[in-house]
Order: sequence, then structure tokens, then C-alpha cells
Amino acid sequence: MPVVRSAYDPKDMQFRHLGPTGLKVSVLSLGGWLTYGGTEKGEIVKKCLETAWSHGINTFDTAETYASGESELEMGKALKELDWPRDEYVLTTKIFFGTGRKEPNTRGLSRKHIVEGLKSSLERLQQPYVDVVFAHRPDYATPMREIVEGFTQVIRNLNLAYYWGTSEWSATQIMEATQIAERYNLIAPVVEQPQYNAFHRQRFEVEYAPLFEQFKYGTTIWSPLASGLLTGKYNDGIPEGSRFAKHGDFFDGTIKSLQTEEGKAKIEKVRKLTAIAERLGGTTASLALAWTLKNPNVSTVILGATKVEQIEDNVKALKLVDKLTPDVLEEIEKILDNAPAQPSKYGRER
Ligand SMILES: NC(=O)c1ccc[n+]([C@@H]2O[C@H](COP(=O)([O-])OP(=O)(O)OC[C@H]3O[C@@H](n4cnc5c(N)ncnc54)[C@H](OP(=O)(O)O)[C@@H]3O)[C@@H](O)[C@H]2O)c1
Repeated sequence: MPVVRSAYDPKDMQFRHLGPTGLKVSVLSLGGWLTYGGTEKGEIVKKCLETAWSHGINTFDTAETYASGESELEMGKALKELDWPRDEYVLTTKIFFGTGRKEPNTRGLSRKHIVEGLKSSLERLQQPYVDVVFAHRPDYATPMREIVEGFTQVIRNLNLAYYWGTSEWSATQIMEATQIAERYNLIAPVVEQPQYNAFHRQRFEVEYAPLFEQFKYGTTIWSPLASGLLTGKYNDGIPEGSRFAKHGDFFDGTIKSLQTEEGKAKIEKVRKLTAIAERLGGTTASLALAWTLKNPNVSTVILGATKVEQIEDNVKALKLVDKLTPDVLEEIEKILDNAPAQPSKYGRER
């Protein structure tokens, strides 16, 4: 009998299917935007992945464009050193923005860049395949049929991925891709990677609702803490070493918006959420994450972390989910006061 080597202990982790697929993802996952290969390199990357894994996180996310390819390099190196059995973790990357090169064909969703971009990503990751490849944005310059064919090719013919998904596509674009896949016997996307958090709700809760209903479309959530705003760390200014301090240019608009009446109201809401978090025995960050997990249309919430301690803090969200009773959720809703209006169904709800 061959010895089966297992490195993975799920601990208290919970799992959800990735949309309509048979693939199971941990409800919390870990991603590398702005962090791994960007501001964080070497041992800390491995430590963060290892800490996530030690809490049962089995899903990891990156993209060709993160730190111009350095994120895939760093995460790939860490995964190689950690040497976990490949069938025990789920790895996702995203194609569209390229790595910063200026040639006309080194970005976008042409069949050429889907194939060549993914091959280059896999080289940087030192992996034979990813579990899911995302179209990091819609490509208005490439016919939808070519895009669907390109992703079908990397899955069906080249074995470079098992599933494909979309990121920040409109519901209409996702519907179009799905219909083209059905009509031409191609592979349809199964998952969207959208921003979703207590301050960013409209698209997820309203526009995507038909996708969840009709296709059980999966979701891997980005910026669940609104880049840290929902941790309370920006309540009294921009702390040294924080994301907004280190990436001031990129977040210039966000930073300035915090000085407006609307921004100040947001901070006030965060303070009120902190009071609820403390009452429930959690932190502001873990409460904000638990709030996203409460939504059944979320498959996994991607954490971002520059420090091991942040991961330790954020996994506490798992313990808070059950404490978010309908009463507590209503209390949170009153504080947020931003629930998007749903379209009328004229009394014809199922
Ligand atoms: N598809 C897309 O277009 C897209 C876009 C963005 C992100 N993503 C994916 O989503 C992942 C997560 O996004 P995100 O990093 O923006 O998530 P986030 O949770 O909104 O922000 C994470 C950042 O908040 C701070 N933080 C996290 N936990 C904290 C804690 N407990 N206490 C204090 N500060 C804490 C850290 O920043 P500092 O320590 O630096 O302050 C951390 O890097 C990315 O890694 C990427 O994989 C995808």
C-alpha cells in the first residue's frame, strides 16, 4: 500500500462548494495583492501561508499582475518550500492585466494571452496547473466567444486549470459567457471574484442575485475589510506602516474621502461595529469578516495579511458567525444604514 502523506488538518475550518462545482474551498482563504512579492518577501510570505494552513485555510489566490509577477514568484517559492501535497490545497490566479509589459499582446483576454499568460503564471508559481483561473476583468476588445474558447482551451485541451471564473464582470457579461458556453459546447465560468464588504454591497447583493439563483454562481470575495478600514485601524488617522501609508498614491482618493462627511460617517460606523464586536467577544476585523460569511452566496472570503497576527485575528471570524443572530444582524444593518434596495418582484417571489 502506498503511504499517503497528509500535511493538512482542517481544525475548525468550514468549507463551501465553489458555486455549482464539486470543489470545496475553506470559507476563509488567503491572497497576495499588494502584500506577497510587493511589500512582503521571503520568510514572512511562507510564515503567512503556513499560519493560514495551520488554521485549516486550503485556498490561496494571486494574479499575474500582482507586484508585476513577483507575487506569483514569492507565493510559488513558498508553496514549493512548504511542499504540501498538491491535492490538499486550492490555488487560483488571474489573467488580464499582464505583468506590466507594454507589447500589444501581453495583456487582455485574447486566446493568445489567456494561454500564454497562464503558462507564464504557472512558470512563476512553479506549478503544473491552478485549480481556478480568473479573467481578472472583462475585455471589451475581444469577442466573448473567443474568451470562452480561450478558457475552455486551457482547461479542456491543455490541463492548465480545472475551472475558470470572472472578476468584476457585470452580471450581463457573465450571462453572455454562460450562454455562449452552452450554445457552442464550451466550458462556462463558475465563479466571480468581486469586492464585497459592509461598505460595498450593491453589485453583490443586487446585480448578481440572478446569477446566484440561476447558476449557483460561486464567489471568492476581495477586500472584505475594505483594505483595513473595517478593522478600525484608520479611525484616528493613517498609522505608519499600514496599507494606506505604504500605498498612498494608489489609495489617494480613499484617503481623501475619509476627510469628507461621508468618510467621517463611515469611521463612526466602524466605531459602533467595534462595540458590537467587543460585546460578542471578537474584534472589529473578525466581526466584519463574519458579516460577509453570513451571506450564503459567498463561497470564500479572501484575507489579505502583512503579518501573521492579522491572520490569527481574522480566523476568529469563524467563531463569530453563529453569534450573528437575526437580532444582531438587524442591529448591524441599522448602523450600516446602506442596505441596497432590491427590485420589486411584484409579489411573485419563490
Ligand atoms: N480580483 C480583484 O480585482 C482583487 C482586488 C483586490 C484584492 N483581490 C484579492 O483579495 C485578497 C484580499 O484583498 P485585500 O488584501 O484588499 O483584503 P482586506 O482584508 O480588505 O485588506 C487586507 C489588509 O488589511 C490589513 N489587515 C488585515 N487584517 C488586519 C487585522 N486583523 N488588523 C489590522 N489590519 C489588518 C492588512 O494591511 P496592512 O497591514 O498593510 O495595513 C492587510 O493586508 C487579495 O490578496 C487578492 O488575492 C482581488
